[in-house]
Amino acid sequence: MAAQPEDIDVDDVREPVWSPSVRALPIPGIRKMVNMAAEMDDVIHLSIGQPDFPVPEHILEAHIQALREGKTGYTMDAGLPQMLEAVAEYYSHRYDRPLEPENVLITTGATEAMYLAIAATAAPGRQFLVPDPTFPLYAPLIRMNGAEVKAIPTRAEHGHQLDPQEVIDNIGMRTFGIILNSPSNPTGTVYPKETVEAIVQEAAYRGVYVFSDEVYDHLLLDEMEYPSVLRCTSDLDHVMAVSSLSKTFSMAGLRIGWLISSQGAIKKLQRFHIFTTTVANTPAQWAGVAALRGGMECVDEMLEAYRARRDRIVELVSKTPFMTSYRPQGAFYIFPSLPPNTDATNVATRMLKETGVCVVPGDAFGDSCPNSLRISYAASMDDIERAFERIVPWMEKQDF
Ligand SMILES: Cc1ncc(COP(=O)(O)O)c(C=O)c1O
Repeated sequence: MAAQPEDIDVDDVREPVWSPSVRALPIPGIRKMVNMAAEMDDVIHLSIGQPDFPVPEHILEAHIQALREGKTGYTMDAGLPQMLEAVAEYYSHRYDRPLEPENVLITTGATEAMYLAIAATAAPGRQFLVPDPTFPLYAPLIRMNGAEVKAIPTRAEHGHQLDPQEVIDNIGMRTFGIILNSPSNPTGTVYPKETVEAIVQEAAYRGVYVFSDEVYDHLLLDEMEYPSVLRCTSDLDHVMAVSSLSKTFSMAGLRIGWLISSQGAIKKLQRFHIFTTTVANTPAQWAGVAALRGGMECVDEMLEAYRARRDRIVELVSKTPFMTSYRPQGAFYIFPSLPPNTDATNVATRMLKETGVCVVPGDAFGDSCPNSLRISYAASMDDIERAFERIVPWMEKQDF
């Protein structure tokens, strides 16, 4: 994602107090749209990347109880022992593989976990393969730490599936890491087990690390076993997997995530973690124990709603002039394409101004899809219907 002139914050350039790496950080495209929408009335947001459900009651209770019982001090560096155990047991069981609490580090969301993993390994001379389009966290972090990003474009006509052979063919002498994010933000694509397995196995063979952002690991909308990298490898020496409570349990603001890797890697990252956030929020870790040990009925209810919305939005998109899409299998995004060479930033901006519907243009997620729009269905069915009642007639009047 090359920094475009309009991505540079002019105040940063005028204020040389900031380090070059901080000055090079782009203003996220998502933020630009949301800032524009904040100046307007009657906006329908199909732009939001967080669940629209309340935190399940039993989790909320555990959080409040922890606060009331005074569980408000620092925990151990790697995390609350009960939470480390809950994560290790939960994934051991889910992926049918042994994991110890020592394989886990509790972080301030998946964001901190990804920050630690990338910042601790990215360095000049090292290259990371990053699917494009992708969540706009990895490439800036990689570049900020002096390493190089090599984009692996995915294509709308293939449902934005990552071609494992293309990834493998792009592994070169400088390749140090591969970033995976399935289900994907912004495409909702879920990579099948064969893709993940082929990449993880080749990476291990070539001494390349796989950094897997699995924050949507529960938001699978079709019947399937989740193909985590943790299912695809017997040792964790070349794998760092990241997830959190944010999406699964609708707890984004409570900021609890984790990183799973070899015990050696966890020891190193634990030291780094002390210098970033010290430890994750303590009462929220108690809420996390309640979430992971409390049964998945609350998640199943949310999934049911996402599934109905996904089905409806696929239908609505297919009826919208100039939009073509595929059927996303996970997360809560769809990423339809506009006709080739259409500037989706221009379309999203005009659409917001003229219809009050806020979506995010493809170039917020990389260089390969400037004609796409990310539409989030972390919004009520009513908002989805009302948004398309505005979008469809507006699109009918366009002439791309
Ligand atoms: C792919 C992806 N990774 C990570 C995050 C951030 O997760 P957390 O809230 O756990 O930091 C998001 C949030 O939108 C995301 O979409």
